[in-house]
Amino acid sequence: MAGSRYGRRMTESLEPLSPRDSETQMTEQVLPQHANVLGTAFGGTIMGWIDICAAIAAQRHCGRVPVTVFVDNLHFKVPIRVGDVVCVSGRLTQAFRTSMEVCVRVTRERPGCRDHVLSVEALLVFVNVGEDGKALVVPPLLLETDEDRRLAADANARKLERQRARTTG
Ligand SMILES: CC(C)(COP(=O)(O)OP(=O)(O)OC[C@H]1O[C@@H](n2cnc3c(N)ncnc32)[C@H](O)[C@@H]1OP(=O)(O)O)[C@@H](O)C(=O)NCCC(=O)NCCS
Repeated sequence: MAGSRYGRRMTESLEPLSPRDSETQMTEQVLPQHANVLGTAFGGTIMGWIDICAAIAAQRHCGRVPVTVFVDNLHFKVPIRVGDVVCVSGRLTQAFRTSMEVCVRVTRERPGCRDHVLSVEALLVFVNVGEDGKALVVPPLLLETDEDRRLAADANARKLERQRARTTG
């Protein structure tokens, strides 16, 4: 595919990539069809946006279409209302052997206000899979800043915790 009009395919490359290479931002407006009877956004709609944003970040990193395997620490901190503009941003915290952890933050912007209020945070784990549905190795994450290293160390600790829960649960 290299040099084709679709551009270079990343699929086979295991070159380390920075979290900045895959960082993903989406902006949505909460419309009546996204709301519950209280006039606030359905949790499921926001969760869908979170999953898409995180999946795009993971896909940009691994170069294939990954699958969601685990969602962790999903916390709705403040309500989001009809009319609010919602910014969803996802960034890789760590790339393991075949899986990647993505942190997603959702901020809410009220019409006429410039403030972005942190409304939802979540951590998602994706696995890079091949045509046969089997897990495939992902490129390492290039840890360039103190913040990158801190987020990766926290992700490493959570991975151990999840492995422990899977083996004991
Ligand atoms: C993702 C999937 C292929 C993993 O299969 P598996 O047999 O568990 O594969 P492995 O044991 O080789 O594990 C692969 C990776 O997934 C990770 N993993 C598996 N289950 C996990 C869980 N519950 N939480 C976090 N990570 C998990 C493993 O730690 C491993 O990561 P690593 O290689 O980076 O260390 C399989 O569980 C699957 O197809 N699940 C359905 C996914 C799906 O349909 N998602 C919704 C739609 S996108």
